[in-house]
Amino acid sequence: MRIGVLTAGGDCPGLNAVIRSIVHRAVADRNDEVIGFEDGFKGLLEGRYRTLDIDSVAGILARGGTILGSSRLERDRLREACDNSEELIERLALDALIPIGGEGTLTAARMLADAGLPVVGVPKTIDNDISATDRTFGFDTAVGVATEAMDRLKTTAESHQRVMVVEVMGRHAGWIALEAGMAAGAHAICIPERPFQVDDLAKMVEERFARRKRFALICVAEGAHPAEGSMPYEKGVIDQFGHERFVGIGNRLAVELEHRLGKEAKPVILGHVQRGGTPTAYDRVLATRFGWHAVEAVHRGEFGRMTALRGTDIEMVPLADGVSELKRVPQDRMDETEAVF
Ligand code: F6P
Repeated sequence: MRIGVLTAGGDCPGLNAVIRSIVHRAVADRNDEVIGFEDGFKGLLEGRYRTLDIDSVAGILARGGTILGSSRLERDRLREACDNSEELIERLALDALIPIGGEGTLTAARMLADAGLPVVGVPKTIDNDISATDRTFGFDTAVGVATEAMDRLKTTAESHQRVMVVEVMGRHAGWIALEAGMAAGAHAICIPERPFQVDDLAKMVEERFARRKRFALICVAEGAHPAEGSMPYEKGVIDQFGHERFVGIGNRLAVELEHRLGKEAKPVILGHVQRGGTPTAYDRVLATRFGWHAVEAVHRGEFGRMTALRGTDIEMVPLADGVSELKRVPQDRMDETEAVF
């Protein structure tokens, strides 16, 4: 069989482990041929690809990023890529395409599958917000990086009696903030799923210092936002497209707390450091299992589906289930810690 692979959307630790696993299972075990498109759907659109043999994936298991490159495409370009791929898949005599990506990529994969193309998806995102899979690879790594950063920030915060406001990734879901915040023992965790009251945060910090505690640690997801009226509206900056863009919530919250409490509050924006570098053992194993199962699904002709972790098993689920809605932190998970504000 001839199988095409691409990685699209934001990169994520574990992508190379999936590519390696697909090549090992397909080329070494099944005698298939694997083609890798460069820079995600962009490469598919522009017909940029290369053959992936066993040598080409040597030594990449522990490497962050993606050897194929990745890109985010706007909706129109994505549609164009989808329209073109039918012709391209035919021209390249591909028997299957395996797109590895997040919600946008899986939505495109679904469009292709709905058009009758042989597609098997592999979900990825550090945000862990894809429905139908218990976990995505990359998440464990991101949580580990954020936890280590907060452990380090605690010691310096304590020395200076400061408030640390640590902003982690998670635009629509607060999984990283929740788990890294819990692991680091953050005193407050703010997530997009529950708008927070700045008054409550200020009160918590004040009470801690009144009890002679020497620091406070607040972990805030980048998509978290204050409840209406709880923090004064601040104007954003106007970007090149004329859109108003806000300074991140970590910065805004630190400034606000400093004003209210007269205490030093330092914002720390972890940003892309959470996405770079070597994946954890957990992510390498999950990514490797996803790759193996994707190839098996191709051989069974199980198209229009994606790999998913269900409990400890890998199952194939309809792509539609993965993109129907984002997986947000449910109430019962928030209730498991008093730190969620
Ligand atoms: O979706 C993964 C993610 O890392 C989000 O957590 C984050 O908001 C976004 O990607 C950042 O995207 P970019 O790399 O395009 O700035």
